[in-house]
Amino acid sequence: MTKANESKPLVVGLAGFGTVGGGLARLLGENADIIRRRTGRDMVVKRVLVRNAQKARGVPLPEGAELTTDPAALTDDPDIDVLVELIGGIDQARALIDRALDQGKHVVTANKALLAEEGLALFQKAERKKRILRYEASVAGAIPIVQALRESLTGNRIESLMGILNGTSNYILSEMTSNGLDFDVALKQAQELGYAEADPTLDIDGHDAAHKLILLIRLAYGVNYPYTALSVRGIRGLSSLDIRLAREFGYRIKLIGQVREVRCPEGRDCADDGSIRLEAGVFPALVHHTFLLARVGGVYNAARVEANAAGALFFHGRGAGDLPTAGAVLADLMAVAREERPNNTGFVGRELPRAAIVPPEEWRSCYYVRVMVQDAPGVLRDISGCMAAEGISVAQMIQKTDEGHGVPLVFMTHETSAQAMSDALQRTVDAGLLKEPAVYFRVL
Ligand code: NAP
Ligand code: HSE
Repeated sequence: MTKANESKPLVVGLAGFGTVGGGLARLLGENADIIRRRTGRDMVVKRVLVRNAQKARGVPLPEGAELTTDPAALTDDPDIDVLVELIGGIDQARALIDRALDQGKHVVTANKALLAEEGLALFQKAERKKRILRYEASVAGAIPIVQALRESLTGNRIESLMGILNGTSNYILSEMTSNGLDFDVALKQAQELGYAEADPTLDIDGHDAAHKLILLIRLAYGVNYPYTALSVRGIRGLSSLDIRLAREFGYRIKLIGQVREVRCPEGRDCADDGSIRLEAGVFPALVHHTFLLARVGGVYNAARVEANAAGALFFHGRGAGDLPTAGAVLADLMAVAREERPNNTGFVGRELPRAAIVPPEEWRSCYYVRVMVQDAPGVLRDISGCMAAEGISVAQMIQKTDEGHGVPLVFMTHETSAQAMSDALQRTVDAGLLKEPAVYFRVL
């Protein structure tokens, strides 16, 4: 911290006064003494930007702060040292951050969508301007995984990272599993509790988890994994029948975000710059009930990191909600107050190389497959034949009674490629064996 700033309060422009912005206002009041003791400075919010200044607010504005609907009242005020962006969305948030950086302000944001889809230009600008751009709250709410990857684990090579990165989906799946709630009822509850994004399709279609995964990949590997190249599948339409059947095999269904290093097969030129490629995606998967990830319930998030020196690490905590998320925003603000040297991506240099990517059809895993078929002689043989034709070996199988729309046959397979699984299921369709589309999930 420069001598001149030691006793000067840090002046904040707060954009957004919803779930997280309101939580931050509360914490700034409740933890004022901690902030002062840890940074040597006070923190004052000069202006709060909202869309609708007439709206009734459940939380009082920070002391002395003015409400505004004019973004320039934050970005162009020379008194303001740091912009906290908590409005969400892409276009307006990007314009706000861009302008703030141009005006020489530091930035703290919780906006994973923006940083995942269009973050590179902002990181480059922050680097050019020597400004701090921090985003701890954007991944897994209260869990300090950004800090862990950017600082604590930099002496390690990260071999894999697997996590539950969306609180809303995990809440829905937990409520469906433990309390038998319907999907829509559980989603409504998650929205009422302030967990869901303004557009909840981001949560249930896997995009929110995917945004977070892109940020984690950047932090762990120092590469640019284009968002559009990521394989993403969410939990929309997931049936309670599969949750029940998975349980019979000893598994829970979880929405997983995963990245792992895959070594290039011998004799094959996989990447320009070496033999390591990344296999990354978001997908619902069966997780054995004895794994820690299977026990992560409700809005909790978790990340399991496998690192070459540390071994396995497991992070667990609240992934959403006002105070848990605001605590992470406040920690970033305190780092700004201490004027910690910017190391925004965790890697030196403005250009991050493009990731070498394993195409999803090459991924290998065991599978859970449910098909609805007619209860007739030879059907089981024919379905198994389709799998055998693609070299897929069945590990376990159960058949249930007719539920009015066919008999569920459930297979747990040995490891195979995604391409072989897709080809086998196409064979079952071509042979006219299915009464409805097959459901299949990877098994971790
Ligand atoms: P929210 O409750 O919907 O609040 C958004 C706030 O931003 C509101 O105060 C809204 O104003 C204001 N706003 C929106 N668009 C605006 C615009 N164009 N101009 C000015 N003000 C605007 O959102 P949130 O849940 O706090 O989330 C904020 C950010 O944190 C998002 O990027 C989200 O992904 C991220 N995040 C949220 C959580 C969570 O648990 N909620 C956790 C981690 C990260 P009005 O009040 O007038 O409508
Ligand atoms: N909608 C997000 C979630 C908020 O449910 O995890 C936290 O990023």
